[in-house]
Amino acid sequence: MIVLGIESTAHTFGAAIVNKKGQVLSDVRDIFTTTTGGMIPTQVAEHHTQVADSVITKAFADAKVNHVDLVVYSRGPGLAPCLHVGIAKAKEYAKSFGCDIIGANHPMAHLTSGLLFTEAQDPVMLYLSGANTQIIALEAGKYRVFGETEDVGLGNALDKFARTLGLGFPGGPQIEQLALQGKWIELPYTVKGMDVAFSGIITRVTQLAKKGVAKEDLCYSLQEVFFSMITEVTERAMAHLNKQEVLLIGGVAANKRLCSMLGTMCKARGATFFAVPMQYAGDNGAMIAWQGLLEYHAGRREKKLDIYPYERCDEIDVIWKSAKPPLSK
Ligand code: ATP
Ligand code: FE2
Repeated sequence: MIVLGIESTAHTFGAAIVNKKGQVLSDVRDIFTTTTGGMIPTQVAEHHTQVADSVITKAFADAKVNHVDLVVYSRGPGLAPCLHVGIAKAKEYAKSFGCDIIGANHPMAHLTSGLLFTEAQDPVMLYLSGANTQIIALEAGKYRVFGETEDVGLGNALDKFARTLGLGFPGGPQIEQLALQGKWIELPYTVKGMDVAFSGIITRVTQLAKKGVAKEDLCYSLQEVFFSMITEVTERAMAHLNKQEVLLIGGVAANKRLCSMLGTMCKARGATFFAVPMQYAGDNGAMIAWQGLLEYHAGRREKKLDIYPYERCDEIDVIWKSAKPPLSK
């Protein structure tokens, strides 16, 4: 069985072809960019409309196939105008192949593709992207959120401070570089139970930057405090859930200091740390294809083709037995 996955929730329009062994036969992406930094949903949707056919055509050419057995689209959460482009294209291609079509939840696809692309079996999952900061684990048939941000996502918090420093977008990598030359200064630490909050700390470093404190020191200290908060709640989730693995997914997984902190914590507990390969950390069609394939293989058929701009991963029933390949039939 060969599947086309279409991703269109935000900045990335992606198309990928994946088989039931979990092999990615092609993975093509075109990312909306802007010099001003913000994303206007209708403009992003316009971008997706313009690139959709060439991205999908290239996905077929790269995979050297001219037919698929299933089309999967990302149904949400995301920007509604962008989701509309994805579902419309998915319908068009499914019709032309006379095959079934199914929608997939985007964060769930990040989670299950993390399992596809690593050796992790039953981890506490850390989903750290621009918009998302969640500590998630599979418990009693659902991927449940055990902790999350009370305000902005970790990546967006880093991006916001980077913008204040005039470092450009995305800010995470720039902050990571500056942090290498910095030293510690005292900052607030905001963990509330299993949740974290970043905004107050961003306000504090912004004030300090205006007072002329070295940006290297601010970047270093900001990373130390943010990543310590994340590591603390992750460790608590592992202890409560009795899990021996951590799987880091999302764009912030690129950060070496974060990976090293989580790795150290895992080692001290005799646990194992995994991070999704960078190639698949960002939004892509392959993860959508794999998620759809898992659900389709487990028997789910789409009753109503629609988009769900606010759907969370903990709303999805985990009907598949394992997220690992190969699928039996
Ligand atoms: P989602 O829709 O899944 O929330 P997203 O588009 O918000 O995805 P990703 O593409 O997964 O986010 O990740 C982008 C974020 O990752 C940006 O905020 C960026 O600053 C951050 N990031 C990228 N590289 C690094 C790094 N080396 N250190 C810290 N943050 C990083
Ligand atoms: Fe994403």
